[in-house]
Amino acid sequence: MSTDLPYYLDPAPGTGAVAPRAWYAGSDAARLSLNGSWRFRLSPTATAQDESFARPGFDDAHWDRLPVPAHWALHGHGAPAYTNHLYPFPVEPPYVPTENPTGDHRVTFALPEGWPAGGAPDSALLRFEGIESCAKIWLNGVELGVFKGSRLPAEYPVGALLRPEGNVLAVRVHQWSSGSYLEDQDQWWLPGIFRDVTLLQRPDGSVVDHFVHTGFDHRTGEGTLRVDAEPGGRVTVPELGVDIATGESLTLPVEPWTAETPRLYDAELATEGERIPLRIGFRTVLVEDGVLKVNGRRILFRGVNRHEFHPEHGRTVDLDTMRTDLLLMKRHNINAVRTSHYPPHPAFLPLCDELGLWVIDECDLETHGFVEFEGWKGNPADDDRWTPALLDRAARMVERDKNHPSVVIWSLGNECGTGRGLSAMAKWIRERDPSRPIHYEGDLSCADTDMYSRMYADHAEVELIGRREELPWGDPELDAKRRSLPFILCEYAHAMGNGPGGLGEYQRLFETYPRLQGGFVWEWIDHGIARRTADGTPYFAYGGDFGEELHDGNFVCDGLVFPDRTVSPGLIEYKKVIEPVRIEGEPGSGTVRITNIHDFADLSHLAFSWIYEIDGHAVAQDALAVPPLAAGESAELKLPVPEAAGQDGEAFWQVRAALREDTPWAGAGHEVAWGQWPAATALAAVDNPGPPLLAPRAGEGGVVVLGPGTFDAATGELKYLNGFQVTGLRLDVWRAPTDNDEAALSVPETRDALAWRTLGLHRMRHRIASVALTEDALTVTTRVAPAASDLGLRTVYRWTADAADGGRLHLAIEVIPEGDWKVPLPRLGVRLGVSGTLGDAQWYGGGPGEAYPDTRAASRIGLYASTVDALQTPYVRPQENGARADVRWVRLRREDGAGIAVRQGEGSPAFWFTARRWTSEQLDAADHTPDLAPGEVVWVNLDHGQHGIGSQSCGPGSLPQYRLAAAEASFGFTFSTLDGR
Ligand code: GAL
Repeated sequence: MSTDLPYYLDPAPGTGAVAPRAWYAGSDAARLSLNGSWRFRLSPTATAQDESFARPGFDDAHWDRLPVPAHWALHGHGAPAYTNHLYPFPVEPPYVPTENPTGDHRVTFALPEGWPAGGAPDSALLRFEGIESCAKIWLNGVELGVFKGSRLPAEYPVGALLRPEGNVLAVRVHQWSSGSYLEDQDQWWLPGIFRDVTLLQRPDGSVVDHFVHTGFDHRTGEGTLRVDAEPGGRVTVPELGVDIATGESLTLPVEPWTAETPRLYDAELATEGERIPLRIGFRTVLVEDGVLKVNGRRILFRGVNRHEFHPEHGRTVDLDTMRTDLLLMKRHNINAVRTSHYPPHPAFLPLCDELGLWVIDECDLETHGFVEFEGWKGNPADDDRWTPALLDRAARMVERDKNHPSVVIWSLGNECGTGRGLSAMAKWIRERDPSRPIHYEGDLSCADTDMYSRMYADHAEVELIGRREELPWGDPELDAKRRSLPFILCEYAHAMGNGPGGLGEYQRLFETYPRLQGGFVWEWIDHGIARRTADGTPYFAYGGDFGEELHDGNFVCDGLVFPDRTVSPGLIEYKKVIEPVRIEGEPGSGTVRITNIHDFADLSHLAFSWIYEIDGHAVAQDALAVPPLAAGESAELKLPVPEAAGQDGEAFWQVRAALREDTPWAGAGHEVAWGQWPAATALAAVDNPGPPLLAPRAGEGGVVVLGPGTFDAATGELKYLNGFQVTGLRLDVWRAPTDNDEAALSVPETRDALAWRTLGLHRMRHRIASVALTEDALTVTTRVAPAASDLGLRTVYRWTADAADGGRLHLAIEVIPEGDWKVPLPRLGVRLGVSGTLGDAQWYGGGPGEAYPDTRAASRIGLYASTVDALQTPYVRPQENGARADVRWVRLRREDGAGIAVRQGEGSPAFWFTARRWTSEQLDAADHTPDLAPGEVVWVNLDHGQHGIGSQSCGPGSLPQYRLAAAEASFGFTFSTLDGR
């Protein structure tokens, strides 16, 4: 490309840096962190200010202060902006807009005592771990070079420039550059020096680079070790009695490294000028017989895609936050991370080595915005002028991260179409590091890759792939090659808002077909930015909240944890679905089947126990002796019959597996897996006549009184339940659409929420056809239907009462759809508002958390209590949430203990329940959490059915078995009131 382009537009890689090399946390060579408070000035364009600020004598006293590392847009200078794949500027590579926020940074530093000033240029390196997106760097007025490739390091030789004190480092950072075309990942655009800046002393004879090669032969139990280093030196592994020269290979018995058993050996590399501590893991990764294997065994990824994100600091993520992410992952049975879509902070990987996670390390490369043009026209990934930049990025990733046992796969990048640049990257990586297979999802031919990878394929297609029978893509030879490769879903189960649904069905496929080696949920964390309303209420902002002219709204909030890393129901569901031990029992059976679905570990690290529960109370429990089954083995064990068996009530067996001892990621007793099943087969319905029914009687003021219920005689509407005022008890089919109901704009034909709103399910009318009083019942017949449609739901409410327990009111509902219903219902049940601030809920049924038909694996039958407020799941964009499944009864109480109780009606199935201090309509209207103002009325939904959740915000909708068709239904509830204390 023409050299007359300014450096920030030139597609060539950065300049001035030394060759990329392995990162390590520390050594005996001195280093000085230059993180801290710097001086900062923001300009609107790349050239608004000249470069005189780089001179040591320049006076920056009037500049602002900015912490480094940081994104200036999160510190009051400019604003973040979010787009998914659209470039937020005209696409005319390599040009970027004249409006190009440019941040000048300055810091002055002194050398620590004993650090020699002046010397050979390479006697000290100035290292930047990441700058978005392009920078020009000066030390003491001398230009060091240009930094490009935001999330990769560069080191500049500065030995000859250093002074004992008064060193001035000046960095000019441009938000936009040619590199922006290569960094079109779905995330906030956040400029700045966002990772650490360090000065490294490089004594004579110190390590220029080192490459730790290891392997493990599962047949012999022996590991191999060779450490290449420049200059040469010695490698010692005291625990193994190893002391060898660099370059020398050794084979010896070792314990292998796996994500389940992350065995590391402390070692040291010593050259003449430096000693570097190493942590060595022995393992071999290869594709064999069409399957990806580590140490000779097929592995199954239970993965997540992890972006680096912090709600206040953006992609500036500290060590504690990295560790928090990994601990949360390990505690939720996650065993793999794809570093979407760029290499993480380098300190993340040693934590993965130590805690045990498989890592797909992905290069900082995405050109997704070119998908907008026919055939990806203009795509830098297929344009030779950009290939040097692509190769530079590949090399900087591989060289930086090559020594981590956790890194098992290199990924070329994300969503770049196909092209010569990608092939060149693959070729280079293969030559440099043949020990790891290569991943890239964007090329379905798999011409450059060692595995077939897809995103968001639905269950049916994944099953075909599992059988190696997927549809051909074109070239028969490449088709045949692809069918011989292992398969992963590098993204699936889009965790946006409420969901994702359908996880269990994917997992069963992964566990059935050896070719299907698991997947990586999209994604780990919601990227909501912490903000406050004018009155100080905290909330999380998303796309569009910063006045962006182009944005993708809350599509940036699609994680398994909330922005503040609170665990969402989706993560709890995922933990259950991917548990590495399957614990199953047949209803009515006292036998448990335990299957070890770890890839390597036996079960000796887990302690099992059983519980026998009646009506939610543990009436007997004990430890359960389970043999230390090897990976893949299973056993059936008889549970002891407890004395309490035979007592009245609903009985369940529960068997739990918990950590026997403390681990680095969770303490002893941490639950890893569980199973629960009914201890008795469903009881045969007893023909119980029940207490006699009470007669309805007309009261004063046009009311009908029936047991604890007072009704409007004209409309048949329930007005009071003893002293509690009730409003709007009626059939309800509406839920505030979830992000998955709303679905991606690209699939209008299957967007449930669009179909619901078009039909008018959010504005149903209730015509009263008749109100009939008989000897023992009040029967109200209605037709529930939306305007402008002939579709309707004929609904009959039959109210009866008896005097048991101080008076109970029974409601039996019958729903008969009329017309040709083509859309599913969001929900089917009744809702009612109860006055009196009933703030506390207690229930017997599924819990403790939220569940929907296809997200209920983690819901356990038990006795639970919660405040009404805590029943809500605060999705960043408010939407339907908080349902509890399989509820037998629920009690809602005021502070004084008085309240109402609802039970499943005689002969009716358990129900779904939600309670909130706003209506579904208010929930639907809210854009951010502070839009929801709690009222004094508690709105309760008692549902016979809920529509599934699916994953259609990016992916397949609910599977057919979870769709709630409009069909005839009968269900019922029993209401009563509770006395206060
Ligand atoms: C994928 C992409 C991700 C993210 C996701 C949707 O296509 O690779 O970066 O955009 O879709 O959230």
